Amino acid sequence: MIRATAHGKVNAMLGVGEAGDDGYHDLVTVFHALNVRETIALTEADDPANPKVTVAGPYSSSSIPCDDRNLARKAVSALAQATDTHVPVDIAIDKNVPVAGGMGGGSADAAAALVAYAAWIGLDDPQLLHDTAATLGADVPFALMGGTAIGTGRGDELATVMSDAQFHWVLATSASELSTPNVYGRLDQMRAEGRAPGPTLDAEAAVAAFVSGDPHQLAEALHNDLEAAACDMLPQLREVLETGREAEALGGLVSGSGPTVAFLVEDDTHALDLAVMLEASTSVRNVVRTSGPAPGAHVVED
Ligand code: C5P
Repeated sequence: MIRATAHGKVNAMLGVGEAGDDGYHDLVTVFHALNVRETIALTEADDPANPKVTVAGPYSSSSIPCDDRNLARKAVSALAQATDTHVPVDIAIDKNVPVAGGMGGGSADAAAALVAYAAWIGLDDPQLLHDTAATLGADVPFALMGGTAIGTGRGDELATVMSDAQFHWVLATSASELSTPNVYGRLDQMRAEGRAPGPTLDAEAAVAAFVSGDPHQLAEALHNDLEAAACDMLPQLREVLETGREAEALGGLVSGSGPTVAFLVEDDTHALDLAVMLEASTSVRNVVRTSGPAPGAHVVED
């Protein structure tokens, strides 16, 4: 058996430009990997003609496909194809990142699966892993890389942000799921109707805040162009954001395309105070206290 892990993320800054011909929007984003992680275990397939995907863990959900649409399966197939290896493997996913929450859980599954399959076949080719990751989804290259990074293009052209500091976050998950393409589509529609502002494509303030290590500075820089669309689709997210403000979080924003809301706090004590307030909100499903940055996808030794 080979096990690998990859982490969920928050976009501390997410600016969304125009959609290109491929339907993808030009992004300027600052990714920050969080200490919430997916673990993937590969084993030799029981039935080589029908390799399986199974999902367990706190965020296991019937909405996750276990067939060829599963992102970890797609990752293994893509790398098997690129290396002409085709080892039939069963995939067991331990889900600790909320599903369809805007935290890159599916992308983490794909990144962990790439690293695990690469270890299985003895491949050491970071460029091939990055290129394969980019074919699987815009957030998969960052899940491979981890840490804190500026993402441009679709979000898959990455540059590391050097930052030593640990930041403390409180995540409020939602009982509802949001489809990423639908949230992007709603933003386009709202912009066309003049109901949402144009793009914010400057990551400088967020990058400077990560480099400084000052959570107050980072709180000022938190920004997500998709927030207006996510809140339009799920108005209760505004209440969750308001609860965070009342509980004096340093800052808060919808994570990626939502509906998870991420709050930045000063330290563990502050996180606990905020968690208590959020747990009382009927719009919140689970509250998770975590920190970042977290490392990139890697094999875990037992
Ligand atoms: O690449 P990924 O599967 O994560 O993207 C899901 C969907 O999100 C895309 O099909 C697209 O509709 C939207 N998206 C986008 N622009 C990006 C990234 C994602 O429009 N840069």
